[in-house]
Amino acid sequence: MVREVLTYSPIDASQAPAPSGTFLRVRVPATSANLGVGFDVMGLALDLVAEFAFATSDQLEVHGCLPKYCNDRNLVWTSYLTACKMLDVNPRTLSIGIHAPLPLSGGLGSSSTCVVAGVIAAQLLSGRAFNKALTLNMATSIEGHPDNVAPAVYGGLTSSFVEAGTTYAAVMPVSDNLRFVAMAPPYVVRTEEARRALPKQVPLQTAVWQMGRCVAMADALLRGDTQLIARACHDKLHEPHRMLLIPHYDMLRTKALQAGACAFVISGSGSTMLAIVEGDEGARKVEDAVRDTVEGLWVHTLHATPEGASVETVVC
Ligand code: HSE
Repeated sequence: MVREVLTYSPIDASQAPAPSGTFLRVRVPATSANLGVGFDVMGLALDLVAEFAFATSDQLEVHGCLPKYCNDRNLVWTSYLTACKMLDVNPRTLSIGIHAPLPLSGGLGSSSTCVVAGVIAAQLLSGRAFNKALTLNMATSIEGHPDNVAPAVYGGLTSSFVEAGTTYAAVMPVSDNLRFVAMAPPYVVRTEEARRALPKQVPLQTAVWQMGRCVAMADALLRGDTQLIARACHDKLHEPHRMLLIPHYDMLRTKALQAGACAFVISGSGSTMLAIVEGDEGARKVEDAVRDTVEGLWVHTLHATPEGASVETVVC
């Protein structure tokens, strides 16, 4: 098993001032894909928001992320370039400021926030309006999966699929009695590795198991029915394989469920995990149960948000 251990703290966004002469700010929510039984299909926007500031510049500058990403391989920049190519417009040279308080462990859609921000910048900086359907299509083709991109663009709970090159997303609200306690251990599980761990085929009865629970889970999240979430949220497609890549999965799951969580899922392909809980008091109990169990564990209670990506134009 190859795991990249995080030896640094999540980025301190206060050290990433917006570039001077900023004229575009983009906000994109963190997201949790899969939600257990919605593998590669469902995604949820969370009230943890990444902010991106763009200004034209004489040379490319990227601020606010790890030094290894402050260059022309930065995903916001490469997504901007790709989107410019798709729109058939000339890219500008940019100074990009990133304020992304997401844990580095992976699983909360940080790459989708970068891709969506780059795609939106390409539209706005070429004189176009921010078009959500176009953003979803372009960002999905860059990211490869729509399940993080769709809630990042539209907010809420989404179920998405790609048909003949077009990405479609059903967008649903989430009941406000639910809390999502995110736990990010201090190591990365790479998405490619997490996908390699999966079988290429599944038996028909597994597909049937999954479809019934996936639709029920969407309805339960919409209505805030924690009993139905507890019944429905038992995945057979990816979590049984991926939990082996997360050494603290079993322990954290047991503690979260004992503390009253109605479900416990791997967020996206990990290593971040989410406990689904009813109410603030329930979330506090789960936080207390897990907080001191793993050195360097990032624990935050998040809410679902109906706000997708948004744009603020500032002319300085
Ligand atoms: N649905 C994807 C996966 C999310 O589970 O691999 C990560 O992009």
